[in-house]
Amino acid sequence: MPEQQRLRIAIQKSGRLSKDSQLMFKNCGMKVNLREQRLIAHCENMPIDILRVRDDDIPGLVMDGVVDIGIVGENVLEEEMLLRSSQNEPTDIKQLCRLDFGGCRLSLAVPEDFDYISPQSLADLRIATTYPGLLKRYMDTQGIDFTGIMLTGSVEVAPRAGLADAICDLVSTGATLEANGLKEVDVIYRSKATLIQSKNPLSDENQALLNRLLLRIQGVMQAKE
Ligand code: PRP
Ligand code: ZN
Ligand code: MG
Repeated sequence: MPEQQRLRIAIQKSGRLSKDSQLMFKNCGMKVNLREQRLIAHCENMPIDILRVRDDDIPGLVMDGVVDIGIVGENVLEEEMLLRSSQNEPTDIKQLCRLDFGGCRLSLAVPEDFDYISPQSLADLRIATTYPGLLKRYMDTQGIDFTGIMLTGSVEVAPRAGLADAICDLVSTGATLEANGLKEVDVIYRSKATLIQSKNPLSDENQALLNRLLLRIQGVMQAKE
């Protein structure tokens, strides 16, 4: 008999979701030593391994079955789904439950002195974003042509740097926009963290473990209400 495969869960290594993801596991009774700078952390009291990776990689890791479970922002998940569908790649996952943290919105923002009336004000302009799929989908519903500028980071400096006329980026407190002389003009997507599972069937043991974990997660969320 092969040794039982441990349940593999991917979480964001560092960023808006990492602290809350770790806290949720802790509240569920998982003992994980996350102090070391390691990709994989072992849970001491349950057969679970935690993989700490870039959030943008999590949907793909789950869709490809490299990990069993992932915690990721719905915005990142939806963007990866759009990208993969456009390339005819598999997008199969199971959404297990929406979590009570990681709330943010994907918004259009322009320089403070920009005379913005509606999305039409951005027609034929350059918009910098990390979410080209979500932005294109929204602008298509509005029937507006634009030039997408793909940036994986520092999107908020693009207008000042002369790279773009507007941006489409995540906003949570609004501090980043304000610090960069930008104003939020339209919300195109609202997101929270969500728990997703690979379509690959789990072993009976791991399925039972996941069921117990889900009950605890729901209990932890209810206790906070
Ligand atoms: C987002 C976004 C801004 C910041 C906005 O980045 O790109 O930098 O959050 O938050 P605020 O409104 O509270 O200032 P995120 O933390 O998601 O990291 P990432 O872009 O590196 O994935
Ligand atoms: Zn990211
Ligand atoms: Mg950022």
